[in-house]
Amino acid sequence: MKVLVVGGGGREHALCWAISRSPLLGRLWCAPGNAGIAEVADCAPIAADDVDGLVRFCGEQGVDFVVVGPEQPLVLGLVDRLQAAGIRAFGPTAKAAELEGSKGFMKDVLDKCGVPTAAYGRFTDPEAAKAFIRKMGAPIVVKADGLAAGKGVLICMSVEEAEIAINQVMVEKAFGDAGTEVVVEEFLDGEEASFFAISDGTRAVALVGAQDHKRAFDGDQGPNTGGMGTYSPAPVLTPELEAEVMRTCIDPVVRGMAAEGRPFTGVLFAGLMILPGPEGRPVPKVLEFNARFGDPECQVLMKRLKSDLLAALLAASEGRLDEVELEWHEDAALCVVMAADGYPGSYRKGTEIRGLEAAAQVEEVTVFHAGTARAEDGRILATGGRVLGVTAHARTIIDAQRQAYTAVDLIDWPEGFCRRDIGWRAIERG
Ligand code: AMP
Ligand code: GLY
Repeated sequence: MKVLVVGGGGREHALCWAISRSPLLGRLWCAPGNAGIAEVADCAPIAADDVDGLVRFCGEQGVDFVVVGPEQPLVLGLVDRLQAAGIRAFGPTAKAAELEGSKGFMKDVLDKCGVPTAAYGRFTDPEAAKAFIRKMGAPIVVKADGLAAGKGVLICMSVEEAEIAINQVMVEKAFGDAGTEVVVEEFLDGEEASFFAISDGTRAVALVGAQDHKRAFDGDQGPNTGGMGTYSPAPVLTPELEAEVMRTCIDPVVRGMAAEGRPFTGVLFAGLMILPGPEGRPVPKVLEFNARFGDPECQVLMKRLKSDLLAALLAASEGRLDEVELEWHEDAALCVVMAADGYPGSYRKGTEIRGLEAAAQVEEVTVFHAGTARAEDGRILATGGRVLGVTAHARTIIDAQRQAYTAVDLIDWPEGFCRRDIGWRAIERG
């Protein structure tokens, strides 16, 4: 089978790494890929959002199956275009990807399906949004409706701050057209976790949970990022809680999307807030849905997955998830992201990274590349903000953390940084 993975980050490296082990695989491409991905797949120089270019490439090469990593091509309708060309693909159609593409649409679906989530309002008029904010009080959360590269969420500690946020998003258009509409919602105070399932449009199979560290610096300080590290399992998500999340959050959305005429095929990534409930019983609420694997969550999921990923994604795309039962390593996986100095602000590109071979020798460590390129003379250069995901697999989170940092310390990249405390929450829980 000829397979194309779309994207070029750490998530796509992990997907390619897992797919490359499948007995079903004949040839694997990745577009655009990166220097790490080039070790397991052939990289095709086509941007992930170049829908025309990707469809043309699949036709020319006779690609049988496409796995889409990032949200942008999904929202742009890549899967629809591939289907129209008779090419199978894993990922939602544009209408189904609106679950991630429009926060207002997502909230309405959750509301209709009775999924526990924060109280909210949708607004296209700034004054109406401000009136709602004054009625609700603070703290309160202002979200740009559309895709804003993970930056469109503003947590506001006072009513004044929230009114300023409305001006920034809706009037000054800080996130462009993504802020034409906003969602204003209740602030939820709890512990965050990510939960993943794959859906074939009518049913869902649970993957596993993970937790990530969104802030740039140790102790969860500093600016928000795409994710500086992650681990799985997430101790806060007990097996009972995961079953509850499937029942109360995932299954109703699969049914609801089908009822809306937008059956969802692909990854359902629920961003959860776990709140303390009556008698200390944890209550999960959905903060948001994404229509793809998380990055860097995917890296730890792939390290823990025992089953054939390609077979599972293929079954999902063909409505055959009833045939799939996934097996997971019981052990823990932990990923430390190494980023360029300055990230998530401005950073230098083209700095050299050494020591990657030594790092990959550490027991059960895989260094997933997120933003790298190989120079003509063979050197590996950093090309992005998040650059590497050093991922270890071990019996416990503490062991995985030790192995990951042993590998990190073998990487010689003076212009990069990482957090030194990935996994602290899980380790503190014991
Ligand atoms: P989102 O892109 O919706 O996941 O939001 C980004 C981050 O903002 C989340 O990971 C949370 O840390 C935070 N957040 C979003 N919505 C809420 C909320 N209703 N209450 C508290 N924190 C939130
Ligand atoms: N790590 C969070 C995300 O992929 O959205």
